[in-house]
Amino acid sequence: MNSIDKIFANNEKWIAGKLSLDPHYFENLSKGQSPEFLYIGCSDSRVTAEDLMGVQPGEVFIHRNIANMVVSIDLNMMSVINYAVRHLKVKHIVLCGHYSCGGIKAAMQPADMGILNPWLRNIRDVYRLHKDELNAISEEQARYDRLVELNVQEQCINLIKTAAVQQAHRERGLLVHGWVFDIHSGRLIDLKIDFPEILKHIMEIYRLD
Ligand code: CO
Repeated sequence: MNSIDKIFANNEKWIAGKLSLDPHYFENLSKGQSPEFLYIGCSDSRVTAEDLMGVQPGEVFIHRNIANMVVSIDLNMMSVINYAVRHLKVKHIVLCGHYSCGGIKAAMQPADMGILNPWLRNIRDVYRLHKDELNAISEEQARYDRLVELNVQEQCINLIKTAAVQQAHRERGLLVHGWVFDIHSGRLIDLKIDFPEILKHIMEIYRLD
């Protein structure tokens, strides 16, 4: 069986499995979605959002791109955030990075990556913001891991810069969470970013109303 045929065969098995547990599974699924979470993660094939969180179809609204970046002029990302926050009214936004992220690694190296350059430049900007802390880390792997974490923190801040997130936080307590997936152990790590402390220093600049 070739790899495409295998996927269609897998799909048939998956349907049969779902229906054996609940004959109305797809009927119910087709009625609509009201996920509690928006998950923003990396496109990396090893970091499978639903699988690693153990959630089912309908539970998480998902957006993935290279290195889980929240870029203000990315209409795709901004549409996802606005739809999830203002229409689906998710209660939590999870920004999940991962160790051994190829996008982060690429941004730490001097290389012309063509069309990827402007995307990776957003990560280089995170490096520049935290240059003193990062350059003080002598071991390369530890510096790489720390940039993964700081990138999660900065992308969470980019979320908080949007009007949709600010309004939903104020009106109904929407929360933003920064996580890292440890690809070496499979563990999800909550970075427990101290948002009140960070926001204290930046909201005078980014507050929209
Ligand atoms: Co990645």
